[in-house]
Amino acid sequence: MLFYLLLGVSAVALAVTALRKLYPTPYPGIPYNKDSARRITGDFPSLMPLIQATNEFSNSVFAVSTQKLGTPIAQVLFPAIRKPFIVLEDPREIEDIVLRRNREFDKAPTAIDGFAPMFPQASLSQYATPKLKAQKRLWADVMSAKFLHKAAAPNIHKATLELLQLWNLKASTVHKIQPFSAHEDFQNAALDAIWVAVVGEEPGVTRYEINKLRSQVAGNAKLESPPPHGLFLKEEVTYINDTIARNSSSPFPKWTLKLETYTPRYRKFRTRVSTEIGLAIRKTVERFKLLELGKLEADELDTCMMDLVLRRQVLDAKKANRPVTDPSKDQSMLDEMFVMLVGGHDSTANTLTWFARFMEAFPNTQTELRTALNASFKDKRPSVADILETDIPYLDATCEEVFRLSGVAKASLRQAVVDTEILGYKIPKGAEVLMNFHVDRTPFPVDPSKRTPGSQGAIDKYGDVFQGDAGRDLAVFEPRRWIVRNKDTGKEAFNPHALPALTFGGGYRGCVELPSEYKTTGATEKIFRHPNTSYVKVRPV
Ligand code: HEM
Ligand SMILES: *[C@@H]1O[C@H](CO)[C@@H](O)[C@H](O)[C@H]1NC(C)=O
Ligand SMILES: *[C@@H]1O[C@H](CO)[C@@H](O)[C@H](O)[C@H]1NC(C)=O
Ligand SMILES: *[C@@H]1O[C@H](CO)[C@@H](O)[C@H](O)[C@H]1NC(C)=O
Ligand SMILES: *[C@@H]1O[C@H](CO)[C@@H](O)[C@H](O)[C@H]1NC(C)=O
Repeated sequence: MLFYLLLGVSAVALAVTALRKLYPTPYPGIPYNKDSARRITGDFPSLMPLIQATNEFSNSVFAVSTQKLGTPIAQVLFPAIRKPFIVLEDPREIEDIVLRRNREFDKAPTAIDGFAPMFPQASLSQYATPKLKAQKRLWADVMSAKFLHKAAAPNIHKATLELLQLWNLKASTVHKIQPFSAHEDFQNAALDAIWVAVVGEEPGVTRYEINKLRSQVAGNAKLESPPPHGLFLKEEVTYINDTIARNSSSPFPKWTLKLETYTPRYRKFRTRVSTEIGLAIRKTVERFKLLELGKLEADELDTCMMDLVLRRQVLDAKKANRPVTDPSKDQSMLDEMFVMLVGGHDSTANTLTWFARFMEAFPNTQTELRTALNASFKDKRPSVADILETDIPYLDATCEEVFRLSGVAKASLRQAVVDTEILGYKIPKGAEVLMNFHVDRTPFPVDPSKRTPGSQGAIDKYGDVFQGDAGRDLAVFEPRRWIVRNKDTGKEAFNPHALPALTFGGGYRGCVELPSEYKTTGATEKIFRHPNTSYVKVRPV
């Protein structure tokens, strides 16, 4: 009897303990919703309906935590099998974390898990290790201004002219009156531009669209030109994009994605991409292998990013007197190149789609931009050199304002790698911090004594910008917030420091380190946010 009683009691105790263990365990001291701590499901009951209603993930997290509690830092609670997310919305502290606190914060597991199962060797799938450092060093120069001007600018220009050709055709034929969705056209153009900049081969996706439309307009049932070889890229990018978008909203994204890598579809993807990229790699390596040491140092040889990286590898091997290992078997090379394409093209296309959206929603800005462009280029179509060399403050300001307000990569995650603090709150080692990169509302007030020297230093240097003109009505698209007028000459100039710019994150784990001159620097969010409607009407000018 006693035995059974004891057994019963301990079963109840066990059950109670087990249930307790399921309750969220908030980090001490950081604000959270008290009700959420009292239920196993934590913040889910308020979070999930919001995500479903708005289709926005990060924004919903901010809404139920920092925004609801009215604090720059808070936490969202999950059932105890998952640690809470610490949520941070202060742009200056975030800037300090990404730029200057790399010893305390690295990429978070939740962010790594979204890509690592599919592209384990890409830099975006790795923690900050010596291996990553070497890989980043190898790729660093492809993002230098000099190299971008040489290898990327002419290709971006060409892709843009093709897009204009397509739109001219649409405007004079099937879409004379009817608006059409710009998003897919931007995706194709970005795909063309990035792939040729990375690999040196043109996929010809936009050209194919032009040919298709021409045939359709001419009433030909059959298309004369065959699909371009590069169309496979679009298929594969679409597959990866859809898989990551879908699988990352499953309860265990890492395992769902890992499982996907065992499917025939994933294996087909790997084979196709390694074969194609492998061919391009081998061609280039053969070209470089024939060259003498002295000649190999010349960067005139590079036509694309891949060339530069391969030339370095051949050069290093020759210098060390060792044979050149076959880089087409090097998975980090393949992963890095494909991730650039996947990560680069949709983010770029979405940014361009927001641009179209803002130009439609703010017609005065559109007129002002047209006037500024016409004042610089008159009625002639500018060349690549014209575009690169002409200083048009209003154009820079418009681009920066599109980056700011589009919030294409709205938020990012870091993990504390040591016990540390944010705004005076204790952040234990291993805690994940969700940072808002979207500067679209006035930050909550912060006690300056709680700031880091780095964050306070930026405020001392650039001023309390959120209280000034640049910080007014942050939900409104207004490029003029990035423009200053010289008091003596009356000349206008672009001020990249008018507000903190977090669109590309920044620092060591930021978007492929942009050169400092570029650092002039209702939606749906899956991987990248894009506007719900992206219809445009175009007419030739
Ligand atoms: C408008 C376009 C783009 C936006 C808004 C964007 C934004 C971002 C953001 C926010 C991050 C993460 C930063 C962080 O967590 O601190 C990132 C990382 C990255 N981006 Fe971009 N990006 C864009 C275009 C591109 C392009 C064109 C490429 C390549 C050609 C690229 C390659 C990468 C890579 C490789 C990383 C990972 C870096 C790392 O993990 O260390 N992105 N990007
Ligand atoms: C990537 O996925 C998103 C979300 O599902 C979708 O809106 C977008 O069109 C996709 N992009 C490509 C290139 O398939
Ligand atoms: C993961 O992605 C694949 C390929 O797009 C899809 O077939 C599968 O249903 C997805 N799984 C989950 C759980 O979302
Ligand atoms: C552009 O500038 C030229 C010369 O300054 C002027 O003749 C032309 O009308 C302008 N076009 C537009 C669209 O403003
Ligand atoms: C955007 O579209 C999604 C569904 O596609 C919808 O749930 C959401 O309410 C829309 N947002 C706005 C602001 O219209």
